[in-house]
Amino acid sequence: MEKVAVIGLGMIGYELVKKYLELDDYDVYIITRSDKGFFNDVKKYFVDITNEYKIKEIIKKINPDYVINTAAMTNVDLCETERDLAYKINALGAKYIGEICKEIGSFLCHISTDYVFDGNKGNYTEKDPINPINYYGYTKAEGERLLNELDYELISIVRISVPYCISPVKVNFFMWVLERLKNNEPISVIIDQWNTPTYVNELVEGIVKIYEQNINGLLHFGGEKVSRYDFALKVAEVFGFDKSLIKPIKSFEMNWKAKRPKDTSLNSKKAEKLLNIKLKTIKEALKEIEKILK
Ligand SMILES: NC(=O)c1ccc[n+]([C@@H]2O[C@H](COP(=O)([O-])OP(=O)(O)OC[C@H]3O[C@@H](n4cnc5c(N)ncnc54)[C@H](OP(=O)(O)O)[C@@H]3O)[C@@H](O)[C@H]2O)c1
Repeated sequence: MEKVAVIGLGMIGYELVKKYLELDDYDVYIITRSDKGFFNDVKKYFVDITNEYKIKEIIKKINPDYVINTAAMTNVDLCETERDLAYKINALGAKYIGEICKEIGSFLCHISTDYVFDGNKGNYTEKDPINPINYYGYTKAEGERLLNELDYELISIVRISVPYCISPVKVNFFMWVLERLKNNEPISVIIDQWNTPTYVNELVEGIVKIYEQNINGLLHFGGEKVSRYDFALKVAEVFGFDKSLIKPIKSFEMNWKAKRPKDTSLNSKKAEKLLNIKLKTIKEALKEIEKILK
């Protein structure tokens, strides 16, 4: 049996654990900060990844073949005001995990973000230079830099964008839209920002393959390019809700603390090629979710 350790039990971590429990050939370990009562039959270790000694000690004790780091401070506006903590979690935490993986020879998959880009270009490939415009993006870029500095070949960094799925852990943008439209409530959705939402069910399959096929380096894992407004319209269309409930608004009308990049769409051709997959369109993914919900 191979040992896989999933760090962070948020939206992505939860779906990864669920996926690995379905596969027979893995022994699953969870490393998390707080207990929300999920997966009570799985071995869980409670650690804050900013505690260098403890996180390294636990990983060393488990001695996993594969470590997947999904733990992060993901609230973009909070990162703007709680800068020290954001840096400790998103940059230093990633570094500690990378260092111990290198020491014990574990393969590490680290999740990063499209927000490392300034959003002026769009359709970003792995070769494009980064230039974050908010502190969250900066701390995630620093996490990548510190991992790259380790010069350890068994690291894969996967950049994702607005992940969506039905999650019992966190209400994501898609779930918010679905819930509001289902209740016939109007929503205001941004029309002038674009990204490539990552379908989480597809992402977790990709992360399994990354280890199985020993794929290291940087990978973009997005999907189809849309504005949030376009995305909401697709939700209404697939689930049969009233599109007129969705009102377009411009980003300047939002009262955000952190700046948001305009177009951080990711070009995921490298991932499609290396993992031998064809990423679903948003409608295909939404239809799949609709079937799961039935
Ligand atoms: N969500 C997005 O829109 C988005 C977009 C692009 C990239 N990403 C990246 O995708 C990854 C996973 O995101 P997600 O959506 O699954 O995030 P999430 O739902 O916010 O989950 C993050 C998890 O990290 C844990 N965590 C935070 N600080 C920690 C610490 N100091 N020590 C240990 N655990 C800690 C949280 O624990 P608690 O529950 O105790 O807080 C939570 O379980 C992150 O790397 C994120 O940067 C996310």
